[in-house]
Amino acid sequence: MYHISSISILLEFLSDTLSIHVVGHLPHLQQIFRYLPMNADGRLFTKLGDIILTTRQALKTPRKDIFTHLLASDRETGLIMTQQDLKQHVLLTITVGAHSVSTTLTRIFAVLASRPDVQARLRQELNDAFDGDGVQPIETVRSLKYLEGVVKEGLRMFAPLVGGTPAVAPKGGITLETGDFIPESTQVWIGQHVVMSEERYFPRATEFLPERWMDQDAEKDGKGNQLIKDRRAWIPFGYGTHACGGRALAMEELKLIVARIVREFDICFGQEGDQPFKYDEWAESWKDFFLTVIEKIDLRFMPRAELRSEVGI
Ligand code: HEM
Repeated sequence: MYHISSISILLEFLSDTLSIHVVGHLPHLQQIFRYLPMNADGRLFTKLGDIILTTRQALKTPRKDIFTHLLASDRETGLIMTQQDLKQHVLLTITVGAHSVSTTLTRIFAVLASRPDVQARLRQELNDAFDGDGVQPIETVRSLKYLEGVVKEGLRMFAPLVGGTPAVAPKGGITLETGDFIPESTQVWIGQHVVMSEERYFPRATEFLPERWMDQDAEKDGKGNQLIKDRRAWIPFGYGTHACGGRALAMEELKLIVARIVREFDICFGQEGDQPFKYDEWAESWKDFFLTVIEKIDLRFMPRAELRSEVGI
């Protein structure tokens, strides 16, 4: 319950507050910003984070989750996180964990509504692999190449962290493959969306092409893939030591949910009054508040007739 309410409060907070991207590029302002009073949504979101943390700390469970690791002491130094650090991690995990997956899913479903051909090919793959409805074995879900292509292409085009995340150049600076030198301590923002929209890495970058991710043998042969010029440019989860801590979980969540919904429902746009839905206008309304904030969308999920008869409904 706290989880759901904290997400909606977070959204209010994000849309009311100064974008992290503005403050993020001004390190000195960041120092002042943390002392400014928070608005009501921010205070409520923080309070919910406290409640979630104390509830989790009181929970005696052998089940391992992300907090099993955060609450444990560091193996090398023996240090444990302060309550303040843990609070920040709760807020971060709710923010990046739930909001990223939900906005990615919404946009994948919108794209599927606009691309019946992709939806049909995906459904065919799912029908060939599964019997009946309901939850399917994760091992089978993992093996589905077109499903993987849909999810990867969704993450490429709809990176939830549009403007990227910061990294600091190491001691002595760093020389990039391009020959450019970045002096030490310089803060650099890596814009996931910009990189993943580049034609030189992903030809036909503005098109949603799940098959882009299927021709991997060509890459292994060193011949390259016509639709991927540099696989390293796929960075929806960031890169390196501080890459997304929930990457594997997020990929499985996205695949499982997309598989289940597409197998059981036909997805199409609803109607806004008498007007057909305008995908491009909707895309224009997305806003970058560090995480993408998207407008609501009217999608219809129609139970599939043949599946109903298959399972005897
Ligand atoms: C579509 C889904 C998701 C995307 C695209 C995504 C993306 C990202 C990105 C770009 C970062 C920053 C990495 C960097 O600084 O270079 C990040 C950090 C993080 N994410 Fe995710 N994320 C997703 C889902 C999740 C989920 C489901 C969880 C866990 C429940 C999660 C937990 C984290 C954590 C803990 C960090 C901080 C890692 C650190 O600073 O060491 N994320 N995520």
